[in-house]
Amino acid sequence: MILGIETSCDETAAAVVTNDGHVLASVVSSQAELHARYGGVVPEVASRRHLDLVAPVVREALAGGASLDRVERVAVTQGPGLVGALLVGVAAAKAIAWARRLPLVPVDHLEGHIASLYLEPEPLEPPFLCLLASGGHTLLLAVREHGRSERLGTTLDDAAGEAFDKGARLLGLGYPGGTEIDRIAREGDPSAFSFPVARVPGLDFSFSGLKTALLYAVRGLGESETERRKADLAASYQRAIVRALVQRIEDAAAQTGLDRIAIVGGVAANSELRAALPGVRFASLELCTDNAAMIASAARYVEALPYPGYLGLDAYASLS
Ligand code: KG4
Ligand code: ZN
Repeated sequence: MILGIETSCDETAAAVVTNDGHVLASVVSSQAELHARYGGVVPEVASRRHLDLVAPVVREALAGGASLDRVERVAVTQGPGLVGALLVGVAAAKAIAWARRLPLVPVDHLEGHIASLYLEPEPLEPPFLCLLASGGHTLLLAVREHGRSERLGTTLDDAAGEAFDKGARLLGLGYPGGTEIDRIAREGDPSAFSFPVARVPGLDFSFSGLKTALLYAVRGLGESETERRKADLAASYQRAIVRALVQRIEDAAAQTGLDRIAIVGGVAANSELRAALPGVRFASLELCTDNAAMIASAARYVEALPYPGYLGLDAYASLS
């Protein structure tokens, strides 16, 4: 049994996963409402909230999964993310592991997203091509084996999820923006506005020009017309992001010869993206956005730090 803990951004999460990848319990407490009025995550507010929530969330996961006596390893997100938020999870994980004399497994958040694909009931086996699209990252990866991937492309500016969030803000929609745009776009015409996405060389992405194009469109329409055409704007904007992602995935598949393709991270929840790529494997909806089951899953492929050598372990905010 592995107890996983995730606190890298605005979700406080804990899960119990077996060594062979069955999720016994997965508890996610989202702080989205707390941050909604600011239009984005406020790091200091997130850290304080994690402090309140981490113990009850872990307790709930254990109550639904397995008693602490049966836990053999504690896994925790070490980075990347908001450093103050990460430290809450790392401290909690150290305390639990130390008190029980258990090993601790530090997990990279991005490896965690990939490992959401390795859970039962339908675990995917490498090699495969993976798009990781979240609020902080847009990465195309060739996953050669568990825990080992090669980076093929990344965003030169905004992440795909960030493009959704910033676009939603321009349209006066709530936070997190991806879910809101996804919802309202269903009532809109995706060909109403033409939003081009920059073509950059290689397998990289760029979304900042798209955001600017939406800004100009909103300015040109004025407040009341923007409000009236919100669904069309959202649908057209979403279409542009989805097109850019699909295009790059196809380019990467052609270049690498990898024919199995998977998509993970918050943006993998997008209904238009899911519909646009019927042959592609998507992380299950509850595992797209941040959760601790994926962290416990990734821990199965990382060497554990034996008791008590991990007490000095630090979090890291970004990849060096
Ligand atoms: O993976 P995640 O929970 O956190 C990070 O590690 O960043 O991803 C959150 C991101 C946010 O930017 C959010 O707007 C986006 O995922 N997202 C979506 C959808 N649901 C969440 N984007 C598009 N469509 C969705 N349905
Ligand atoms: Zn994430």
